[in-house]
Amino acid sequence: MTTGSVTPIDESGFGAYVNLSIETQAFDGSFSKFLLDALKSHSVLILKGSALKSETFVGLATSMGNLEILPEAEKRNTKFPAIFDLTNVGEDGHIVQFDEPQSVFLRGTERWHTDSSFREIPCLCTLLNAVEVPEQGGNTLFADMRAAYEAIPEDLKLVVDSLKVVHSYAYSRANNPGKLEEMSEAELAKYPPVTHPLIRTHADGSRSFYMGGHASHIEGMPVDEGRNLLSELLEISTQKQFVYSHQWSPGDLVIWDNRSTLHRLEPYDIAGHRRVMRRITVKGTETVR
Ligand code: OGA
Ligand code: MN
Repeated sequence: MTTGSVTPIDESGFGAYVNLSIETQAFDGSFSKFLLDALKSHSVLILKGSALKSETFVGLATSMGNLEILPEAEKRNTKFPAIFDLTNVGEDGHIVQFDEPQSVFLRGTERWHTDSSFREIPCLCTLLNAVEVPEQGGNTLFADMRAAYEAIPEDLKLVVDSLKVVHSYAYSRANNPGKLEEMSEAELAKYPPVTHPLIRTHADGSRSFYMGGHASHIEGMPVDEGRNLLSELLEISTQKQFVYSHQWSPGDLVIWDNRSTLHRLEPYDIAGHRRVMRRITVKGTETVR
């Protein structure tokens, strides 16, 4: 049996602390059920611990499902391809400059998004483990897309309920705040645009917005009009009553449900302070409906 406790951050139930000892944990069926149930109930899980060994990190993530491999080959950890080192420290050990592709990629995560929504079957969740964090800033913000959808007026629900959104990796890459590492046409062609409903229905019948940085436009609507509507919806659904801001300590492991949340890195002095994180994304198992 998994012995752990789950303590919600506040009365909203969005976000919870999970208290268990990762190092001594068997990543078995009971652990997997415990973690997946907690994720379903609270969408963002915070585990206080230490920088995990690669084997432990991969073992823990694998208990939640199969692992995604990132499109960018150069970002994969050579020994553990599912681990992605999210770091503003270059190979020479120095912090990379603001306009270097490595920094541009990281600053791309400052836009509200949900991970891998550009895939036909997008991911279930992401695990981020902090190795080094700036003394100030560099929080990650999480927005509760269920609560945001529930809060909109009924007549707006009627409008958005039937809409479909085109998600595109080429679109979100092109919109990065600067120049990225080149990605070949052939590589990009592996990620053609996909269409998902704007309002996602979950297994328990609850519904949430499904949009963010990879959402290019609304199917069947003039592109500009669709983009304007998406940006209005983004604004209302990321108001502060729907947002939890995570201030990192070294060793934190945060796991978020990408089906029902958006997240973003809060801008900080990225060219001045080291921030080293390791990340694994767990595959989803079903199409968005
Ligand atoms: C991610 C991400 C934001 C951050 O890992 O998917 O968006 O705060 N990270 O590092
Ligand atoms: Mn992300």
